[in-house]
Amino acid sequence: MHPIRIAPSLLAADFSRLGEEVRSVEDAGADWLHLDVMDGHFVPNLTFGPFITAAIKKCATKPLDVHLMITDPWRYADAFLDAGADLLTFHIEVAAQGDVGKLLDHIRSRGRKAGLSVQPDTPVALLAPFVDRLDLVLVMSVFAGFGGQKFMASVLPKVGELRALGYRGEVSMDGGIATGTIAQSAAVGTNVFVAGTAVFGAPDRRARIAELRALAKGARGPAG
Ligand code: DX5
Ligand code: ZN
Repeated sequence: MHPIRIAPSLLAADFSRLGEEVRSVEDAGADWLHLDVMDGHFVPNLTFGPFITAAIKKCATKPLDVHLMITDPWRYADAFLDAGADLLTFHIEVAAQGDVGKLLDHIRSRGRKAGLSVQPDTPVALLAPFVDRLDLVLVMSVFAGFGGQKFMASVLPKVGELRALGYRGEVSMDGGIATGTIAQSAAVGTNVFVAGTAVFGAPDRRARIAELRALAKGARGPAG
């Protein structure tokens, strides 16, 4: 069973104090830092690129879990790897734009972890050809593009479906993960929990991360 990881999404951070926010959630117990990269094309929102990723890398001590919500990950993957991404995840929905397997292999050839993400309305069956070339699957529990949306429980069966496809790597869930939803996600086998609003909006971030971790652990049953 993969370890429980809490990955605060910096999309919910105060970008006027980004360095402080990184230190704050790391001190509060974050396992990974989730960076939401949006190009204003794959999703109707525009966030940041390699330049900010490199700035975050300078002050981070935890792994950077970079989520590319962009139409052309082939064009920009190396820029994010150069900037310090430890995990690089792109969306299967852009598969028609290039060779998915080749990009996954390339990310791994540079010593980083490769991931694929699926939108709520995308079947995980599309990932079947790649299950042996993946370190992470990011199951979106909201439609990508914005933080603070409502958790979509309809995606929960996807985790079991991934295991049925023979995928043995880590499973992350992203969108609306909070104290009221994390247990159902952990119960189906998710081990990485992306949480933006739930962490950055908490009065006590350390207490909130500890609470999320305990809820996930409890939902996993005796194996914990
Ligand atoms: C949405 C992003 C999510 C989002 C999560 O496109 O991929 O990571 O920031 O935010 P919350 O946890 O606020 O739903
Ligand atoms: Zn994300």
